[in-house]
Amino acid sequence: SHQWRGLIEEYREFLDIPADTPAISLGEGGTPLVRSEWLSGLTGGDVWLKVEGANPTGSFKDRGMTAAISVAVHEGAKAVVCASTGNTSASMAAYAAKARITPIVLVPDGKIAAGKMAQAIMHGGKVIKVRGNFDDCLRLSRGLAEHYPVALVNSVNPVRLQGQKTGAFEIVDALGDAPDYQLMPIGNAGNMSAYWLGYQQYAELGRATRTPVLRAFQAAGAAPLVLGHPVANPETRATAIRIGNPASWKLAEAARDGSGGRFASVTDEQILDAQAALAREDGVFVEPASAAGVAGLLQELAAGDSYAGKKVVIVVTGNGLKDTVTALEHHGDIDDVVVDADIDAAAGAAGLA
Ligand code: F0G
Repeated sequence: SHQWRGLIEEYREFLDIPADTPAISLGEGGTPLVRSEWLSGLTGGDVWLKVEGANPTGSFKDRGMTAAISVAVHEGAKAVVCASTGNTSASMAAYAAKARITPIVLVPDGKIAAGKMAQAIMHGGKVIKVRGNFDDCLRLSRGLAEHYPVALVNSVNPVRLQGQKTGAFEIVDALGDAPDYQLMPIGNAGNMSAYWLGYQQYAELGRATRTPVLRAFQAAGAAPLVLGHPVANPETRATAIRIGNPASWKLAEAARDGSGGRFASVTDEQILDAQAALAREDGVFVEPASAAGVAGLLQELAAGDSYAGKKVVIVVTGNGLKDTVTALEHHGDIDDVVVDADIDAAAGAAGLA
């Protein structure tokens, strides 16, 4: 039998990290690529979901964090810091716990989902709530890492991208080649940049015959990449991508241009509707931000774009359990059904009788 060893051991030869770095792993990567019958039917294409919510802490951030924490520990770090809209901090806290070092997280006060906050706290994170947004938190984190003995593990740390690019490797390994298109949400812009690295590397190595067109979607109220300038006060219900000045702006533009792709925006309504539809139609429950790629596909279909006959991967980045409050606020307007502990009452309420 084969136990997945975590992505550093599975892909070490392809990662630009010191060869002797011991892996600090929670078994991340190796996530399911699930065919969407719903979206394949709608498009006449072959649409797959890369379900990153199946990672150990429930988001793709674990790919970057196993790499960043492994290298930081190898270099002697005793503490790590990040700014986060919630998933990076949850992941960092878990990997720091595994490594027995101190995690310090800076988050925008009142703007991170409850599940993510619980993760950071449970894993022993020193959680600092900042009166400001993600962009403020990132500025502070950079400053702390510059002036104090603490390693920065945001995706401005290039080791993060080395871990995250393995998502592209897994997709090619599963499909036998790169897809025609990849759609995904974008916030701080590290992930799209990392996927582009991975797809390019596999093409150069001859493990793929091509690279996909990359299309990345922002929330309309937090769409600096679409607008072409920073947004001072980003707003969206999809708090994971509530970012006004992405750190990997230039890298993501290079990924867009190099792949022949584009950035576009979708409204919160579109995002939350796509989240609900994906849960109902395909059995895949993702957090709001993670539905931006699905919302983007639906928007493009409505605008007359065609994916007929094409192989499409949508990266769904985080687990729906991260933010049940937003899900139920938007979709839970159904009256509770409460019955006595009686089979006839249950059958009646279920519509069976
Ligand atoms: N989806 C989810 C669920 C995220 O948490 C993030 C980013 C993104 C998409 C966007 O990825 O930033 O690489 O473009 N979350 C970061 C965090 C900002 O702090 O957890 P990106």
